[in-house]
Amino acid sequence: MEQKKTKVLFVCLGNICRSPTAHGVFRQLVEDRGLSHLIETDSAGTGAYHVGEPPDHRATMEAARRGYDLSDLRARQAVATDFGYYDYVIAMDVQNLGGLRSICPADYPGYLGMMTDFTDRYEGDVPDPYFGGAAGFTHVLDMLEDACSALLDQIVVRGVSG
Ligand code: 4NP
Repeated sequence: MEQKKTKVLFVCLGNICRSPTAHGVFRQLVEDRGLSHLIETDSAGTGAYHVGEPPDHRATMEAARRGYDLSDLRARQAVATDFGYYDYVIAMDVQNLGGLRSICPADYPGYLGMMTDFTDRYEGDVPDPYFGGAAGFTHVLDMLEDACSALLDQIVVRGVSG
């Protein structure tokens, strides 16, 4: 019998900086642990400004420096039907979380929360790096490597299904 996959959706505003970075980091961690057949990863934005675009080149470069390939990713907007598919819908900041709550069905049985919920090392928002310099992208990657690893640990402890 085929085991049910655990499905994880990372969400930021534009889906070109933070959530595609989380997407690329998390799917690499999943692959490294040999769990790609059990855990599915995606990302989206609450806004539609960049739909169809690849990740911001600064995010792509920073990720590549640490061995994560974001080149196949393209931005899309989060939609209400995502809650019928994903077991975890994870917002990068409180603004994104508010946008997601406004489209989330009241009876959603999965986990809707913040990226930093899973780690003790960081709390609150993964800060938006879009209007800042390179250091912002490095900090985002530091946070996301830590939080994605903690999230994966939690999913594995729970038995890999949603
Ligand atoms: P992201 O960053 O939400 O991490 O993808 C942003 C990307 C674009 C914009 C804002 C944030 N923007 O205003 O276009």
